[in-house]
Amino acid sequence: MTYPVAADGDPQCSIVVLAVPEGGGYPCPMTSDDEHTTHFGFSKVDKAEKAGLVRGVFDSVADRYDIMNDLMSAGLHRLWKRFTIDQAAARRGDVILDLAGGTGDLAREFSRRVGKEGHVVLADINSAMLQQGRRRLIDAGVAGNVTIAQVDAQALPFDNSTFDCITMAFGLRNVTDKEAALASMFRVLKPGGKAMILEFSQPNKAIKPAYDLYSFKVLPVLGKLVADDPDSYRYLAESIRMHPDQATLQSMMEAAGFERCRYHNLAAGIVALHIGYRI
Ligand SMILES: C[S@@+](CC[C@H](N)C(=O)[O-])C[C@H]1O[C@@H](n2cnc3c(N)ncnc32)[C@H](O)[C@@H]1O
Repeated sequence: MTYPVAADGDPQCSIVVLAVPEGGGYPCPMTSDDEHTTHFGFSKVDKAEKAGLVRGVFDSVADRYDIMNDLMSAGLHRLWKRFTIDQAAARRGDVILDLAGGTGDLAREFSRRVGKEGHVVLADINSAMLQQGRRRLIDAGVAGNVTIAQVDAQALPFDNSTFDCITMAFGLRNVTDKEAALASMFRVLKPGGKAMILEFSQPNKAIKPAYDLYSFKVLPVLGKLVADDPDSYRYLAESIRMHPDQATLQSMMEAAGFERCRYHNLAAGIVALHIGYRI
């Protein structure tokens, strides 16, 4: 299989489920005590449990996800995604994977840019998020060059060298085995293609106290008021703190085989866009 092609002009944008096992994620191989556990926010959990817990978060926030994104970031996430799209420099005919694509903000814009000669796969592990994405694609009149696929980033069910570009926006920190996800992305990228990881990162010291206050005091209250779900937004703040910083993520990408890796700090490092190439 290269990528699952939607029927030409399919207005329904059907969701293809590709090898996502019952329980929502692949179990991670475990060989020693240390390797049994990972973080879910600040909590230490068994690796086998994390995918189910993450699924619970996104099942719970899916129908309020977009409005919460706008509220929490005061609309800034749109600028960060715009920057990512500009850096992707997608051309007509490109084949693009928007991994952990959720409600499809990036996939929608890529679909316009690659045209009918190209193809976009909106892929995510969570069915509720993809349902929202599908609804928004249909509302935007997108059809014909987008496939919606339920997949696990840790074991992508695509052929080697399939994509010109892979984006993953705010997804990697939720993945249990980040090294496996990076290796999988590298494998399905074409030589010459680029991977782009947009993710929360380490902000500079000057803004840290204000950022911490906002994350741990304001966010859960917003989550309670708007989505009646303070726990999911507490997880958001905690998972950001547990995510590798800019230099560490760059090293992880290099270890996965990516070359010419670099990153751009956005909003004083609250968010960073990492870019790496398969040469
Ligand atoms: C914060 S949302 C980001 C959605 C979208 N990219 C955006 O920027 O608005 C994170 C997404 O990562 C997805 N995700 C978590 N673990 C995943 C995995 N192992 N494979 C694929 N997607 C995953 C979640 O289901 C969720 O939709």
